[in-house]
Amino acid sequence: MSNVAVIGAQWGDEGKGKIIDWLANRAEVVVRFQGGNNAGHTIVVGDKTYKLSLLPSGVIQGKRSIIGNGVVVDPWSLLDEIGRVCAAGVAVTPDVLVLAENAVLVLPIHRELDAVREMSNTSKLGTTKRGIGPAYEDKVGRRAIRVVDLKDFDSLPAKVDRLLAHHNALRRGAGADEIDGDKLLAELKEVAPKILPYVGSSWRELDAARRAGKRVLFEGAQAVLLDIDHGTYPYVTSSNTVAGQAAAGAGIGPKQIGYVLGITKSYTTRVGEGPFPTEQVNATGEMLGSRGNEFGTVTGRKRRCGWFDSVLVRQTAITGGIDGIALTKLDVLDTFETIDVCVGYRLGDQVLDYLPADAVAQAKLTPVYETMEGWNCSTRGARSWADLPANAIKYVRRIEELIGAPVALLSTSPDRDDTIMVRDPFLG
Ligand code: IMP
Repeated sequence: MSNVAVIGAQWGDEGKGKIIDWLANRAEVVVRFQGGNNAGHTIVVGDKTYKLSLLPSGVIQGKRSIIGNGVVVDPWSLLDEIGRVCAAGVAVTPDVLVLAENAVLVLPIHRELDAVREMSNTSKLGTTKRGIGPAYEDKVGRRAIRVVDLKDFDSLPAKVDRLLAHHNALRRGAGADEIDGDKLLAELKEVAPKILPYVGSSWRELDAARRAGKRVLFEGAQAVLLDIDHGTYPYVTSSNTVAGQAAAGAGIGPKQIGYVLGITKSYTTRVGEGPFPTEQVNATGEMLGSRGNEFGTVTGRKRRCGWFDSVLVRQTAITGGIDGIALTKLDVLDTFETIDVCVGYRLGDQVLDYLPADAVAQAKLTPVYETMEGWNCSTRGARSWADLPANAIKYVRRIEELIGAPVALLSTSPDRDDTIMVRDPFLG
């Protein structure tokens, strides 16, 4: 049995929550390894819908769930989420949840800075305004407050001073009020006892799991096209979202990652700013958005919609390390007479089979489409290949061929049970 890492293969919102929940059923440990409460994973179980942001999806099934060191953690938001999930009847106790002591905290100053930047035309990226970017900046700048710092109130004032020396200099330059260190210290002291019962060591937990032969599921957030290195920079999130990050962000060796499952919608969506070659700003885009209910889980923003882009997913399969894909939301295409798939980009007199790294070139690309016949009947809720119309199977097979990766799972509705397994990811 292999471990499994799940990552998004497009710009996020591919339906990772459902697939992770489905796989979590057969895992013993579930770990988040990057991102923060910018993520929004929706899990539908019967008539209940859970919306998770920071909590690993394993909590819903009472699996050992770890928030790894690569995650940036807003402690107030985490407590709110624990409260919400507990109110919905799911116990999130320290027996279930472990928060890595070496994870970095997202503070009110980070949220504020994120929001201020989003108000400026020169720095707007369309972020979720959760303070994720500024928190990672402080991490890399080696001035962040970490979870473990909440244990030691004696050394906390010096750490807060060091952090505010940076932030208050910025704020003075911008003509904003300085942050009061005593107020921040008081807020941290107030939240500490509520967070500390969950605090532990991600790497030691995972080492124990490995020795005991337990199956681990690594739960990626966002997606490869939002990766800080491999995404559509600068319109990206501030973490690495590729499978390789599961090792660094959880505290395990790269060989422990196991099978990498990339989650891919049967079409494409994106929230926020940035290039999107197959975007359909027309009736097709509206139809995809309304049939696919394309509104952000975290911010409620309307998602931009377009045709499936095989060039992008072929590339993310390579950079993300994807072994196989879970194809989701095929049913959204049920009513289209014909369906376009992007197979290349025209740039001047060249045809490219990859996304150029330069944002200026990315904005100039014209997609080259292959048009396929639709199937004009419902695939919603299909539970075997035999339930799928021939044209839908053709579409899936063509996608596999174009992206160079096999379909391991096919999801045909948000319901846990509406999943066709072609290959068991835990078998490697
Ligand atoms: P940030 O992660 O809040 O800094 O936002 C940076 C970019 O990533 C923006 O375009 C966001 O819309 C996008 N983003 C962040 N998290 C998610 C997600 O979970 N799904 C989809 N897009 C996301």
